[in-house]
Amino acid sequence: MKTDRVEGPILPEFPDASSFSRIRLGELLGSLSYALDITGGQSEGHSVRSCWIGMQIADALRLSKEQKTDLYFMLLLKDVGCSANSAKTCEIFRTDELAIKKGFKRLDRSKKQNLPFALKHLGRGAGPGAKISAAIGVLGKTGKVTRDLVQTRCHRGAEIAAMMRFNRHVADGIQGLDEHWDGKGQPYGLAGRDIPLFSRIALLAQVVDVFHEEFGPHAADMEVAVRKGKWFDPMIVEAFLKCSNAPGFWDVLRSPGIEQIVFSSEPAHQYRAVDDTYLDEVAMAFAYVIDAKSPFTHGHSQRVSFYADLICQERGYGPQKRRWMRRAALLHDIGKLGVSNMVLDKPGRLTDDEFRQIQRHATMTQQILGRISAFGSMATIAAAHHERLDGTGYPNGLTAVDLTEDMRILAVADIFDALTADRPYKGALPLAQAYEIMDSMAGTGIDPDCYGSLKSAVVQHDLFAGETALRTA
Ligand SMILES: [Fe+2]
Ligand SMILES: [Fe+2]
Repeated sequence: MKTDRVEGPILPEFPDASSFSRIRLGELLGSLSYALDITGGQSEGHSVRSCWIGMQIADALRLSKEQKTDLYFMLLLKDVGCSANSAKTCEIFRTDELAIKKGFKRLDRSKKQNLPFALKHLGRGAGPGAKISAAIGVLGKTGKVTRDLVQTRCHRGAEIAAMMRFNRHVADGIQGLDEHWDGKGQPYGLAGRDIPLFSRIALLAQVVDVFHEEFGPHAADMEVAVRKGKWFDPMIVEAFLKCSNAPGFWDVLRSPGIEQIVFSSEPAHQYRAVDDTYLDEVAMAFAYVIDAKSPFTHGHSQRVSFYADLICQERGYGPQKRRWMRRAALLHDIGKLGVSNMVLDKPGRLTDDEFRQIQRHATMTQQILGRISAFGSMATIAAAHHERLDGTGYPNGLTAVDLTEDMRILAVADIFDALTADRPYKGALPLAQAYEIMDSMAGTGIDPDCYGSLKSAVVQHDLFAGETALRTA
C-alpha cells in the first residue's frame, strides 16, 4: 500500500447548526420531492405542482388551517413509497420500470386501456419468447399484480411519513392514494367517503398534473370529467372546476415560479422547526427510500454513513461535522432513484450506454441535493463519491487536487461497503479480500490516510470479528 499523503484542497466551510434553523420544512421536503418525481418516472416538479393543485382545492373546500398543513405535506410526499416497488415492477414487466410508472399514472385501468399498455411495455427490448412469457404472466393476473405493487408502495410510503413524525392524517392520505371513489381502486377497494379526504384530493391533483403536463389544460379537464364519480369524488371535482375556471390557474401551474409559490406558502412554515435532530431523521427516512429501490442496495446508505462516521471520528472531526458527514453519506446515492432497475439490478456486464446511465446517478445526486440551499456544499461532496484521485472516476473525472478530505472519506466508505456487503448474485467478500482490493487502490484511486483510518476503526471496534456482524445489520 502506498502511504504518501496526496494533498487535496482546503476543506470547504460546512453550515453550522444555526443555518439549519432557517430551512423551511416545505422547501426541504419539496426539494427532496424531485427525487420522488424521477423515481416515479414523472417530469421534474410533479409533486410540487400536484401540491399546488391540491392546495387550491383545499381552499375551495374551505379546509381548516391544520388540515391544509397536513394536506400540504401529504401532497409533497405522496410518492415517498414509490421506490419500494421499483425492483418488483421491473422484474414483473421485464422492462424499464420508470416508463411503466410514467404510463401507469395516465391509465384509467380499464381493460380497454390495460391490454394495449401491457402489450406495448411488457418485455420491451426482449426477444419474442420473453415478451410472450411476460405477457402471459402479467395479463393472467393483472388485478393481483397491480394490487401487490400498489400495496407495497402505499404501505411503505405511509411508514416513511411516520418515520418523519408526520401524523396519521398524512400517513393515511398516502396509503389511500390509489383508492377510487367507485370502489375499484387499490389496494383495498375502499369506496366513497371511506377513502381519506386527502387521498381523494391528491389522486385528482396528480392526474390533472400528469395530463396537463403532457397534453395541456383541455385534456386535464376532460380527464377529470370522464373520471368523475368513477375515480374521483364528485365534490372534489366541483371544487377543482371552481379553481381551474378561475383566471390564471393554468398560467400559474405552468409558470417557472410555481416552486417558490409552493415553498413560500403558509403551510411550508408550519409543522415543526427543522433542527439538527429532525434533519437527521429526514436524511435517514430518505436513505430508506434510496435503499428500497434495489435489492443490491439494501442498507447500503446507512452502512456507508456508519463507516464514514467511523473514519471521521478517527480523523478527529468534531460532533457537528460528523453529523453533517453522516447526512451526506445517507443521501450520497439519492440520484440512483432516477436510474432504471433494469440497469441497476442487471446481473451481467453493462453496455456503454448502461454504464453512462449508472454514472448519471452521481450528477443527479448533485442536482437534487443542490436544490436545498443549506445543503449546497453537501451536494458537491455527496456527488463526488465515485471520483478517484487519479482522475479515473466519475462523473467529472476530478483528480487529487480537486478532492477534499470529506469527498475522500465518502469514497472509501462507499467502496468498503460495496465490497463487504451481501448482494444478489454476489456474496460479500471476506475482509482480507476487500482489503486486498482497496490496498491496490490506495494512493491512486483512494486516499491512503482515509483508508488507514477506516482500517484502524475496523480493528478498534472489532467490526468484522465474526465476518457477518454488519452484513445483516
Ligand atoms: Fe454511488
Ligand atoms: Fe453508494
